[in-house]
Amino acid sequence: MSEYALAIPPELLPIQESVALALARVEKTFESALRSDLPAVQRLIQHVETYRGKMLRPALAILCGMASRPSHPGAPTPRHPDVSDSHITIAAVCEMIHMATLVHDDVLDEADIRRKGATVNRLRGNEAAVILGDYLFSSAYHLCATLDSLTAARLIGQTGMSLCAGELLQLHHREDLSIDQPTYFEIVRRKTGSLIAIACDLGARQSGAGEQTATRFGDFGMALGVAFQIQDDLLDLTGNQTLVGKPLLKDLELGKLTLPVIHHLETSSPHQRGRTLELLSGGRASGAAFARELRGVLASTGSLDFAAAKARDLVAQAKNLLAPIVDSPAKRLLLVMADQVVARAF
Ligand code: FPP
Ligand code: MG
Repeated sequence: MSEYALAIPPELLPIQESVALALARVEKTFESALRSDLPAVQRLIQHVETYRGKMLRPALAILCGMASRPSHPGAPTPRHPDVSDSHITIAAVCEMIHMATLVHDDVLDEADIRRKGATVNRLRGNEAAVILGDYLFSSAYHLCATLDSLTAARLIGQTGMSLCAGELLQLHHREDLSIDQPTYFEIVRRKTGSLIAIACDLGARQSGAGEQTATRFGDFGMALGVAFQIQDDLLDLTGNQTLVGKPLLKDLELGKLTLPVIHHLETSSPHQRGRTLELLSGGRASGAAFARELRGVLASTGSLDFAAAKARDLVAQAKNLLAPIVDSPAKRLLLVMADQVVARAF
Protein backbone atom coordinates (compact mmCIF):
# COMPACT_ATOMS: atom_id res chain seq x y z
CA MET A 1 0.00 0.00 0.00
CA SER A 2 3.07 2.23 -0.11
CA GLU A 3 2.09 3.50 -3.57
CA TYR A 4 -0.87 5.50 -2.23
CA ALA A 5 -1.11 9.21 -2.81
CA LEU A 6 -2.25 10.29 0.67
CA ALA A 7 -0.06 9.92 3.74
CA ILE A 8 -1.07 7.19 6.20
CA PRO A 9 -1.45 8.68 9.72
CA PRO A 10 1.44 7.43 11.94
CA GLU A 11 -0.90 5.62 14.37
CA LEU A 12 -2.08 3.42 11.48
CA LEU A 13 1.43 2.34 10.45
CA PRO A 14 1.33 -0.88 12.57
CA ILE A 15 -1.95 -2.00 10.98
CA GLN A 16 -0.57 -1.10 7.55
CA GLU A 17 2.45 -3.29 8.35
CA SER A 18 0.08 -6.17 9.28
CA VAL A 19 -1.71 -5.79 5.97
CA ALA A 20 1.65 -5.78 4.13
CA LEU A 21 2.61 -9.05 5.89
CA ALA A 22 -0.74 -10.57 4.97
CA LEU A 23 -0.35 -9.44 1.34
CA ALA A 24 3.03 -11.21 1.19
CA ARG A 25 1.16 -14.40 2.22
CA VAL A 26 -1.45 -13.70 -0.46
CA GLU A 27 1.32 -13.50 -3.08
CA LYS A 28 2.72 -16.89 -1.96
CA THR A 29 -0.75 -18.50 -2.08
CA PHE A 30 -1.34 -16.93 -5.49
CA GLU A 31 1.94 -18.32 -6.86
CA SER A 32 1.55 -21.82 -5.48
CA ALA A 33 -2.11 -22.12 -6.55
CA LEU A 34 -1.21 -21.17 -10.13
CA ARG A 35 2.08 -23.06 -10.46
CA SER A 36 2.32 -25.30 -13.52
CA ASP A 37 4.72 -28.18 -14.19
CA LEU A 38 4.88 -27.03 -17.81
CA PRO A 39 7.65 -24.42 -18.32
CA ALA A 40 5.77 -22.78 -21.23
CA VAL A 41 2.70 -22.25 -19.02
CA GLN A 42 4.74 -21.22 -15.99
CA ARG A 43 6.45 -18.47 -18.02
CA LEU A 44 3.05 -16.98 -18.89
CA ILE A 45 1.95 -17.12 -15.25
CA GLN A 46 5.14 -15.34 -14.21
CA HIS A 47 4.44 -12.66 -16.79
CA VAL A 48 0.97 -12.07 -15.38
CA GLU A 49 2.49 -11.67 -11.92
CA THR A 50 4.25 -8.54 -13.22
CA TYR A 51 0.77 -6.98 -13.65
CA ARG A 52 0.38 -6.89 -9.89
CA GLY A 53 -0.48 -3.38 -8.82
CA LYS A 54 -2.04 -1.88 -5.75
CA MET A 55 -3.52 -5.23 -4.50
CA LEU A 56 -6.64 -3.23 -3.67
CA ARG A 57 -9.01 -6.21 -3.56
CA PRO A 58 -6.82 -8.43 -1.31
CA ALA A 59 -6.07 -5.48 1.01
CA LEU A 60 -9.81 -4.76 1.32
CA ALA A 61 -10.65 -8.43 2.00
CA ILE A 62 -8.07 -8.54 4.78
CA LEU A 63 -9.01 -5.19 6.33
CA CYS A 64 -12.77 -5.88 6.19
CA GLY A 65 -12.01 -9.19 7.90
CA MET A 66 -10.07 -7.39 10.64
CA ALA A 67 -12.64 -4.61 11.01
CA SER A 68 -15.64 -6.93 11.30
CA ARG A 69 -14.12 -9.21 13.93
CA PRO A 70 -16.22 -8.98 17.10
CA SER A 71 -14.22 -6.81 19.49
CA HIS A 72 -13.85 -7.15 23.24
CA PRO A 73 -14.30 -3.72 24.83
CA GLY A 74 -11.10 -2.51 26.49
CA ALA A 75 -8.95 -5.24 24.95
CA PRO A 76 -5.58 -3.89 23.73
CA THR A 77 -5.05 -3.82 19.98
CA PRO A 78 -2.43 -6.45 19.09
CA ARG A 79 0.48 -5.08 17.06
CA HIS A 80 -0.14 -7.67 14.35
CA PRO A 81 -3.74 -8.94 14.42
CA ASP A 82 -4.05 -12.55 13.24
CA VAL A 83 -5.05 -12.97 9.65
CA SER A 84 -6.48 -16.46 9.09
CA ASP A 85 -5.57 -18.70 6.16
CA SER A 86 -9.15 -18.42 4.92
CA HIS A 87 -8.79 -14.63 4.62
CA ILE A 88 -5.57 -15.13 2.67
CA THR A 89 -7.39 -17.60 0.39
CA ILE A 90 -10.30 -15.23 -0.27
CA ALA A 91 -7.85 -12.39 -0.96
CA ALA A 92 -5.88 -14.54 -3.43
CA VAL A 93 -9.09 -15.74 -5.14
CA CYS A 94 -10.20 -12.12 -5.70
CA GLU A 95 -6.79 -11.09 -7.03
CA MET A 96 -6.73 -14.08 -9.40
CA ILE A 97 -10.15 -13.21 -10.80
CA HIS A 98 -9.01 -9.62 -11.16
CA MET A 99 -5.92 -10.76 -13.13
CA ALA A 100 -8.11 -13.01 -15.33
CA THR A 101 -10.34 -10.05 -16.21
CA LEU A 102 -7.31 -7.87 -17.03
CA VAL A 103 -5.83 -10.51 -19.36
CA HIS A 104 -9.19 -10.90 -21.13
CA ASP A 105 -9.85 -7.16 -21.12
CA ASP A 106 -6.55 -6.53 -22.92
CA VAL A 107 -7.68 -8.91 -25.68
CA LEU A 108 -11.00 -7.03 -26.01
CA ASP A 109 -9.20 -3.67 -25.96
CA GLU A 110 -6.38 -4.86 -28.27
CA ALA A 111 -4.11 -3.29 -25.65
CA ASP A 112 -0.33 -3.53 -26.00
CA ILE A 113 0.66 -2.13 -22.62
CA ARG A 114 -0.53 -2.81 -19.06
CA ARG A 115 1.24 -1.53 -15.94
CA LYS A 116 4.13 -0.25 -18.06
CA GLY A 117 4.80 -3.72 -19.55
CA ALA A 118 3.73 -5.65 -22.65
CA THR A 119 0.36 -7.42 -22.46
CA VAL A 120 0.07 -11.20 -22.91
CA ASN A 121 -1.88 -10.70 -26.16
CA ARG A 122 0.92 -8.51 -27.48
CA LEU A 123 3.62 -11.02 -26.49
CA ARG A 124 1.86 -14.31 -27.28
CA GLY A 125 -1.25 -13.44 -29.26
CA ASN A 126 -4.97 -13.48 -28.46
CA GLU A 127 -5.28 -17.29 -28.36
CA ALA A 128 -2.76 -17.66 -25.54
CA ALA A 129 -4.20 -14.66 -23.67
CA VAL A 130 -7.77 -16.02 -23.79
CA ILE A 131 -6.71 -19.45 -22.51
CA LEU A 132 -4.42 -17.93 -19.86
CA GLY A 133 -7.37 -15.85 -18.60
CA ASP A 134 -9.42 -19.07 -18.46
CA TYR A 135 -6.58 -20.77 -16.53
CA LEU A 136 -6.57 -17.93 -13.99
CA PHE A 137 -10.35 -17.98 -13.67
CA SER A 138 -10.45 -21.78 -13.25
CA SER A 139 -7.61 -21.62 -10.68
CA ALA A 140 -9.58 -19.05 -8.71
CA TYR A 141 -12.58 -21.45 -8.45
CA HIS A 142 -10.25 -24.33 -7.61
CA LEU A 143 -8.63 -22.31 -4.82
CA CYS A 144 -12.02 -21.07 -3.57
CA ALA A 145 -13.20 -24.70 -3.32
CA THR A 146 -10.45 -25.39 -0.74
CA LEU A 147 -12.49 -23.25 1.70
CA ASP A 148 -15.27 -25.83 1.72
CA SER A 149 -17.72 -22.92 1.84
CA LEU A 150 -20.82 -23.15 -0.31
CA THR A 151 -21.53 -19.47 0.36
CA ALA A 152 -18.10 -18.39 -0.90
CA ALA A 153 -18.41 -20.65 -3.96
CA ARG A 154 -21.88 -19.31 -4.75
CA LEU A 155 -20.88 -15.66 -4.30
CA ILE A 156 -17.68 -16.01 -6.31
CA GLY A 157 -19.61 -17.74 -9.13
CA GLN A 158 -22.21 -14.96 -9.09
CA THR A 159 -19.44 -12.35 -9.25
CA GLY A 160 -17.90 -14.00 -12.33
CA MET A 161 -21.32 -13.81 -14.03
CA SER A 162 -21.66 -10.17 -13.04
CA LEU A 163 -18.22 -9.26 -14.42
CA CYS A 164 -19.02 -10.90 -17.76
CA ALA A 165 -22.52 -9.37 -17.93
CA GLY A 166 -21.06 -5.89 -17.27
CA GLU A 167 -18.51 -6.35 -20.00
CA LEU A 168 -21.19 -7.68 -22.41
CA LEU A 169 -23.43 -4.69 -21.66
CA GLN A 170 -20.47 -2.39 -22.34
CA LEU A 171 -19.87 -4.14 -25.67
CA HIS A 172 -23.57 -3.79 -26.50
CA HIS A 173 -23.27 0.00 -26.06
CA ARG A 174 -20.02 0.36 -27.97
CA GLU A 175 -20.14 3.48 -30.21
CA ASP A 176 -23.53 4.34 -28.65
CA LEU A 177 -23.45 8.14 -28.49
CA SER A 178 -26.80 8.21 -26.64
CA ILE A 179 -25.76 5.95 -23.76
CA ASP A 180 -27.18 7.43 -20.54
CA GLN A 181 -25.87 7.69 -16.98
CA PRO A 182 -28.03 4.83 -15.54
CA THR A 183 -26.60 2.46 -18.18
CA TYR A 184 -23.04 3.66 -17.46
CA PHE A 185 -23.55 2.99 -13.73
CA GLU A 186 -25.08 -0.45 -14.45
CA ILE A 187 -22.00 -1.40 -16.47
CA VAL A 188 -19.59 -0.08 -13.85
CA ARG A 189 -21.37 -1.71 -10.89
CA ARG A 190 -21.10 -5.06 -12.63
CA LYS A 191 -17.70 -4.91 -14.34
CA THR A 192 -15.78 -3.27 -11.47
CA GLY A 193 -17.97 -2.83 -8.39
CA SER A 194 -19.02 -6.47 -8.06
CA LEU A 195 -15.53 -7.90 -7.46
CA ILE A 196 -14.48 -5.19 -5.00
CA ALA A 197 -17.81 -5.64 -3.18
CA ILE A 198 -17.39 -9.39 -2.85
CA ALA A 199 -13.79 -9.03 -1.60
CA CYS A 200 -15.15 -6.89 1.27
CA ASP A 201 -18.22 -9.07 1.89
CA LEU A 202 -16.29 -12.37 1.96
CA GLY A 203 -13.48 -10.83 4.03
CA ALA A 204 -16.09 -9.98 6.69
CA ARG A 205 -17.82 -13.38 6.42
CA GLN A 206 -14.52 -15.20 7.04
CA SER A 207 -14.41 -13.37 10.41
CA GLY A 208 -17.85 -14.70 11.31
CA ALA A 209 -19.84 -11.62 10.29
CA GLY A 210 -23.58 -12.25 9.84
CA GLU A 211 -25.53 -11.53 6.66
CA GLN A 212 -26.32 -7.92 7.59
CA THR A 213 -22.75 -6.92 8.46
CA ALA A 214 -21.27 -8.78 5.46
CA THR A 215 -23.75 -6.99 3.18
CA ARG A 216 -22.80 -3.65 4.76
CA PHE A 217 -19.13 -4.31 3.96
CA GLY A 218 -20.19 -5.46 0.48
CA ASP A 219 -22.12 -2.21 -0.09
CA PHE A 220 -19.04 -0.28 1.11
CA GLY A 221 -16.98 -2.15 -1.53
CA MET A 222 -19.55 -1.51 -4.25
CA ALA A 223 -19.60 2.27 -3.65
CA LEU A 224 -15.82 2.30 -3.53
CA GLY A 225 -15.56 0.18 -6.68
CA VAL A 226 -17.78 2.52 -8.68
CA ALA A 227 -15.76 5.53 -7.43
CA PHE A 228 -12.58 3.66 -8.42
CA GLN A 229 -13.85 3.13 -11.99
CA ILE A 230 -14.94 6.78 -12.35
CA GLN A 231 -11.43 7.80 -11.28
CA ASP A 232 -9.99 5.31 -13.80
CA ASP A 233 -12.16 6.82 -16.52
CA LEU A 234 -11.12 10.34 -15.53
CA LEU A 235 -7.46 9.33 -15.63
CA ASP A 236 -7.99 7.96 -19.16
CA LEU A 237 -9.10 11.48 -20.18
CA THR A 238 -6.89 13.73 -18.07
CA GLY A 239 -4.15 11.59 -16.48
CA ASN A 240 -0.40 11.58 -16.86
CA GLN A 241 0.46 8.69 -19.18
CA THR A 242 3.75 7.90 -17.43
CA LEU A 243 2.02 7.58 -14.06
CA VAL A 244 -1.04 5.75 -15.40
CA GLY A 245 1.23 3.17 -17.11
CA LYS A 246 -0.95 2.65 -20.22
CA PRO A 247 -1.90 4.78 -23.23
CA LEU A 248 -4.58 7.42 -22.53
CA LEU A 249 -7.83 8.13 -24.41
CA LYS A 250 -8.27 4.40 -25.04
CA ASP A 251 -11.94 4.42 -23.94
CA LEU A 252 -13.04 6.76 -26.73
CA GLU A 253 -10.84 5.04 -29.28
CA LEU A 254 -12.73 1.82 -28.41
CA GLY A 255 -16.11 3.54 -28.61
CA LYS A 256 -16.63 3.47 -24.82
CA LEU A 257 -18.30 6.63 -23.53
CA THR A 258 -17.52 7.32 -19.89
CA LEU A 259 -19.20 9.56 -17.31
CA PRO A 260 -17.62 12.94 -18.24
CA VAL A 261 -18.44 12.46 -21.95
CA ILE A 262 -21.97 11.18 -21.22
CA HIS A 263 -22.63 14.14 -18.90
CA HIS A 264 -21.28 16.57 -21.49
CA LEU A 265 -23.48 15.17 -24.28
CA GLU A 266 -26.51 15.23 -21.95
CA THR A 267 -26.03 18.82 -20.81
CA SER A 268 -24.50 20.75 -23.74
CA SER A 269 -26.53 22.92 -26.11
CA PRO A 270 -27.64 21.29 -29.40
CA HIS A 271 -25.00 23.34 -31.21
CA GLN A 272 -22.20 22.32 -28.83
CA ARG A 273 -23.40 18.70 -28.86
CA GLY A 274 -23.16 18.66 -32.66
CA ARG A 275 -19.63 20.06 -32.52
CA THR A 276 -18.55 17.51 -29.92
CA LEU A 277 -20.00 14.63 -31.92
CA GLU A 278 -18.05 15.91 -34.91
CA LEU A 279 -14.90 16.01 -32.79
CA LEU A 280 -15.49 12.46 -31.52
CA SER A 281 -16.20 11.02 -34.93
CA GLY A 282 -13.38 12.93 -36.60
CA GLY A 283 -11.26 9.79 -36.81
CA ARG A 284 -8.48 11.28 -34.75
CA ALA A 285 -9.49 10.22 -31.27
CA SER A 286 -5.90 10.38 -30.07
CA GLY A 287 -2.93 12.73 -30.07
CA ALA A 288 -2.10 15.80 -28.00
CA ALA A 289 -4.22 18.28 -29.99
CA PHE A 290 -7.32 16.07 -29.75
CA ALA A 291 -6.75 15.55 -26.02
CA ARG A 292 -6.42 19.30 -25.41
CA GLU A 293 -9.53 20.12 -27.41
CA LEU A 294 -11.56 17.35 -25.76
CA ARG A 295 -10.56 18.40 -22.23
CA GLY A 296 -11.56 21.99 -23.05
CA VAL A 297 -14.92 20.85 -24.38
CA LEU A 298 -15.61 18.66 -21.33
CA ALA A 299 -14.52 21.41 -18.96
CA SER A 300 -16.87 23.91 -20.67
CA THR A 301 -19.91 21.99 -19.33
CA GLY A 302 -18.28 21.21 -15.99
CA SER A 303 -18.33 17.51 -16.95
CA LEU A 304 -14.86 16.64 -15.58
CA ASP A 305 -15.77 18.30 -12.26
CA PHE A 306 -19.15 16.55 -12.30
CA ALA A 307 -17.53 13.11 -12.59
CA ALA A 308 -14.90 13.92 -9.93
CA ALA A 309 -17.66 15.13 -7.57
CA LYS A 310 -19.68 11.95 -8.22
CA ALA A 311 -16.63 9.83 -7.31
CA ARG A 312 -16.11 11.86 -4.11
CA ASP A 313 -19.83 11.45 -3.22
CA LEU A 314 -19.54 7.68 -3.62
CA VAL A 315 -16.48 7.63 -1.37
CA ALA A 316 -18.43 9.63 1.23
CA GLN A 317 -21.33 7.13 0.93
CA ALA A 318 -18.90 4.23 1.35
CA LYS A 319 -17.40 5.80 4.48
CA ASN A 320 -20.88 6.46 5.93
CA LEU A 321 -21.75 2.79 5.47
CA LEU A 322 -18.99 1.94 7.94
CA ALA A 323 -20.36 4.34 10.59
CA PRO A 324 -22.09 1.57 12.64
CA ILE A 325 -18.94 -0.61 12.60
CA VAL A 326 -17.04 -0.47 15.88
CA ASP A 327 -13.93 1.73 15.78
CA SER A 328 -10.60 -0.08 15.24
CA PRO A 329 -7.29 0.64 13.47
CA ALA A 330 -8.47 -1.61 10.61
CA LYS A 331 -11.66 0.42 10.18
CA ARG A 332 -9.66 3.67 10.25
CA LEU A 333 -7.29 2.34 7.58
CA LEU A 334 -10.30 1.37 5.45
CA LEU A 335 -11.50 4.98 5.68
CA VAL A 336 -8.06 6.25 4.59
CA MET A 337 -8.02 3.77 1.69
CA ALA A 338 -11.46 5.02 0.62
CA ASP A 339 -10.03 8.54 0.26
CA GLN A 340 -7.04 7.17 -1.69
CA VAL A 341 -9.36 5.81 -4.38
CA VAL A 342 -10.14 9.33 -5.63
CA ALA A 343 -6.78 10.91 -4.72
CA ARG A 344 -4.74 8.54 -6.88
CA ALA A 345 -3.08 9.64 -10.11
CA PHE A 346 -2.50 6.07 -11.39
C1 FPP B 1 -11.07 -3.12 -16.82
O1 FPP B 1 -11.82 -1.97 -17.02
C2 FPP B 1 -11.95 -4.34 -16.95
C3 FPP B 1 -12.84 -4.78 -16.05
C4 FPP B 1 -13.04 -4.06 -14.77
C5 FPP B 1 -13.68 -6.00 -16.25
C6 FPP B 1 -13.25 -6.89 -17.36
C7 FPP B 1 -14.15 -8.08 -17.46
C8 FPP B 1 -14.07 -8.99 -18.44
C9 FPP B 1 -13.06 -8.90 -19.53
C10 FPP B 1 -15.03 -10.14 -18.50
C11 FPP B 1 -14.84 -11.15 -17.44
C12 FPP B 1 -13.69 -12.01 -17.60
C13 FPP B 1 -13.45 -13.04 -16.70
C14 FPP B 1 -12.24 -13.89 -16.83
C15 FPP B 1 -14.38 -13.27 -15.57
P1 FPP B 1 -11.43 -0.91 -18.14
O2 FPP B 1 -11.48 -1.57 -19.48
O3 FPP B 1 -12.28 0.29 -17.95
O4 FPP B 1 -9.95 -0.54 -17.68
P2 FPP B 1 -8.57 -0.53 -18.44
O5 FPP B 1 -8.34 0.89 -18.73
O6 FPP B 1 -7.60 -1.06 -17.41
O7 FPP B 1 -8.64 -1.38 -19.67
MG1 MG C 1 -10.18 -2.01 -20.77
